[in-house]
Amino acid sequence: MIQHDVVIVGGGLAGTRAAVEIARIDPRLSVAVVAKTHPIRSHSVAAQGGMAATLKNVDAEDSWEAHAFDTVKGSDYLADQDAVEILTKEAPDVVIDLEHMGVLFSRLPDGRIAQRAFGGHSHKRTCYAADKTGHAILHELVNNLRRYGVQIYDEWYVMRLILEDGQAKGLVMFRIRDGEMQVVRAKAIMFATGGYGRVYNTTSNDFASTGDGLAMTAAAGLPLEDMEFVQFHPTGLYPAGVLISEAVRGEGAYLINSEGERFMERYAPSRMELAPRDITSRAIAREIRAGRGIHPDGTAGGSFVYLDVRHLGREKIMSRIPFAWEESHRLAGVDAVHEPIPVRPTVHYSMGGIPVNTDGQVRSSPEGLVEGFFAAGETACVSVHGANRLGSNSLLECVVYGRRTGATIAHYVQNRKFPEINEQQYLNQAKQQVQSLIDQPGQYRIAKVRQAFQDCMTEYCGVFRTEELMQQGLAQLQAIRQQAQQIYLDDKGQIFNTELIEAFELQSLLTVGEIILTSALNRKESRGAHSREDFPDRDDTDFLKHTLAYYSPAGIEIRYLPVTITQFQPQERKY
Ligand code: FUM
Repeated sequence: MIQHDVVIVGGGLAGTRAAVEIARIDPRLSVAVVAKTHPIRSHSVAAQGGMAATLKNVDAEDSWEAHAFDTVKGSDYLADQDAVEILTKEAPDVVIDLEHMGVLFSRLPDGRIAQRAFGGHSHKRTCYAADKTGHAILHELVNNLRRYGVQIYDEWYVMRLILEDGQAKGLVMFRIRDGEMQVVRAKAIMFATGGYGRVYNTTSNDFASTGDGLAMTAAAGLPLEDMEFVQFHPTGLYPAGVLISEAVRGEGAYLINSEGERFMERYAPSRMELAPRDITSRAIAREIRAGRGIHPDGTAGGSFVYLDVRHLGREKIMSRIPFAWEESHRLAGVDAVHEPIPVRPTVHYSMGGIPVNTDGQVRSSPEGLVEGFFAAGETACVSVHGANRLGSNSLLECVVYGRRTGATIAHYVQNRKFPEINEQQYLNQAKQQVQSLIDQPGQYRIAKVRQAFQDCMTEYCGVFRTEELMQQGLAQLQAIRQQAQQIYLDDKGQIFNTELIEAFELQSLLTVGEIILTSALNRKESRGAHSREDFPDRDDTDFLKHTLAYYSPAGIEIRYLPVTITQFQPQERKY
């Protein structure tokens, strides 16, 4: 059996930052990163606009307290404020540390790190590398994995978390190249497996964002927190859904409807295009519903609005947001120097996830922790984003809590022994699972079932929700689940059987989707990204609390976790 002191699942920002921290604290520890893609291809590489930190390079009036307040207000007061304080206080330090690792941030004329405006932030505090910030950071972190001798298992799909007696002991993993299966044991397991954008049919997320870590955690009987809060990024490129960075609005772009109006005046007059994402996405959806969207031929009544950067001029567009120009040109045939970009909301981020404390240790219940199990990044819920994340706080969360969780783990494993695992039993079960998928006669193609599921989630649990709509969604989802039991695979082989991986991923998507829908049905209020037309107001009396959803094939049980409030009492949220 393979063994490492620490195994981290996921090669994005949170996982790699944790690995580097563990190796820095104790170079004798054996650390491995397991990922279903090469780490450089993790979804973090697609992060664009930047990372918030109160360096005060552009705005001397900024402070960590202001950053904390903006984050808590942005979260619609559901964020845990102790976790937000850590995030915002440690932010400048993690950015400087990245700079020392070699990350090529964009600069001010005097050589200091440049900072730009972002939605919901009251000061210019977002540090960036043009509009390719995730790319710049991830490349340095992956270089550092090699420098510190971290073992990388790339293109291994983790099939199962081995959790026995309240303790995480190891994993069952599958090598995509040749179908080899291995059990690995570790003194600590960390999940940094990212989000689940592929639950929906229009998303900025890559094909690998299928919520596997979340589903495995749920299947092991552990709760998922606040899964009803799904972030729609306001500016997905129409029709592909890929991200046109908020940096574009940070640099001064306008949102325009079919009547040529800057319609954000109606929804967030003090912040306009730089309102938080939940408000801006709803505003776009309302404009489209009211018939003020635009068709591809430019007439009214269509399903997108325009993002207009023409007034910024070629030089600024090409130096600050070159990737947005390139994407618009390549994928929509639009030259943004001369034409407006067609955009509409796209699923972007998961505010919820695996519940963890501020040291990254996974919670088993409101009171309990799981031994040997940690999580950070988008897959975790610590919860710094509450009901709505501010742009540029997610790269920050990955690095602050990746580093913190890595430090916790480096100390945690010092006095721990390797757990005992019945390797053969787990291998046999995994082999049987694979064989029955390959052998089953089935009648449905994976792609068809997945599309039906994604359409169902998009239609019944999207930007606006009601009890009736979501009940219909849940009923449809149960029918789709039946079909998913009867899929058939054309590829019966061992070598790069990506169809088999898609079959595993389909199971993850279905589990995560059911938890999102059930958690959303249960929360009978509107807060942040969760917008119920049948309960339009926030209800602090009954719902100022986190949802903990426990999945089982028989049904989902909901429990609650209190919100930690330190400095900022909930108030009406207006911009
Ligand atoms: O719009 C963006 O560049 C995305 C940033 C973020 O999600 O933090």
